[in-house]
Amino acid sequence: MQSRPLYCTSRGKAYVGDSLELLAELTDNSIDLVITSPPFALRRQKTYGNVAETEYVQWIKPFGQEVFRILKESGSFVLDLGGAYRSGMPSRSLYNFRVLLAFCDEIGFHLAQDFYWFNPARLPSPIEWVNKRKIRVKDSVNTVWWFSKTNFPKANVTKVLASYSDRMKKLIEDPESFYKPKKRPSGHDISACFGKDNGGAIPSNLLSIPNTDSNSSYLRLCKELGLECHPARFPSELPAFFIKMLTDEGDIVLDIFGGSNTTGFTAEALKRQWLTFEMNHEYLVSSALRFLEWHSSAAVKQIIVDLGDSYANFFIGETVCELEPTRKAKSKGESLGQEELFPSGTNAR
Ligand SMILES: C[S@@+](CC[C@H](N)C(=O)[O-])C[C@H]1O[C@@H](n2cnc3c(N)ncnc32)[C@H](O)[C@@H]1O
Repeated sequence: MQSRPLYCTSRGKAYVGDSLELLAELTDNSIDLVITSPPFALRRQKTYGNVAETEYVQWIKPFGQEVFRILKESGSFVLDLGGAYRSGMPSRSLYNFRVLLAFCDEIGFHLAQDFYWFNPARLPSPIEWVNKRKIRVKDSVNTVWWFSKTNFPKANVTKVLASYSDRMKKLIEDPESFYKPKKRPSGHDISACFGKDNGGAIPSNLLSIPNTDSNSSYLRLCKELGLECHPARFPSELPAFFIKMLTDEGDIVLDIFGGSNTTGFTAEALKRQWLTFEMNHEYLVSSALRFLEWHSSAAVKQIIVDLGDSYANFFIGETVCELEPTRKAKSKGESLGQEELFPSGTNAR
């Protein structure tokens, strides 16, 4: 790329700028996975600005066209879109479904699969319909569209196997006392192989991940330094799931609405190369804190000053990035298998 990044690590680069302009600097067929969460069509504006639902498809389509161009044939584009209500009425906007249709019908993406991110910790809203009048339930699910350029994008579900349920563990230990091979009423023929240990259960497309980060080093350092932390971060388990399933170590992952660079941090922890584009200079400055946990506070303060220049090209170097479940297990002295990256219940079975 011609632009100079704000900062880089040995695996990734974070750029300040409009991602439409930055995408134009990437060559065709060069990226393995784009995963992102754009500003949603919310009625209550976030500080970074949101696009009206009626103009949303028109706004996001050029980004989709550029992503289609720069993705490899084997590549995927994962787009997280929260649901929204129409202005002043208790009926839902169809904007996330309109984006899905436009990307497939007009740009040429395939819908490899639709995913649903269930956040059990989501607060009830909008207040008028949910809390006051009590005529709508809490909305706790985002649609996550997994687009691909071809019908067969690179994908390997065995890298995201979920932990077996206790019942399944018992069945594997002693299949005969638990289970007799037979045809189910649904027509599924469940054979004796059902009790085989495959290292974990196939996850479903309902990803149950609480968004409750309140004590990460990113938040702690933002607070200590008086920097604004990003108001709409997704939890690292969300990009981790797709990065693991859709890429291999060394592949390139891009987030075009990078925010606090959760995606870059997650990709770094999973040993992928990464690129992040974010329009807001301040958000990207504080995102560097994700990679500076082991630096002295004097060094961190100096780096933050250096990042005041939008094209600082600051080299952080080798980093120690650990995803939350790994970190927690380590602090308790436990070992953690690949399938246990996601805390129990994360991948609803
Ligand atoms: C929902 S937030 C992404 C949060 C991110 N997933 C995280 O975990 O921190 C969307 C971000 O897109 C940025 N943004 C909006 N329009 C942009 C554009 N044209 N180019 C680059 N970034 C943009 C906003 O500043 C905002 O930080």
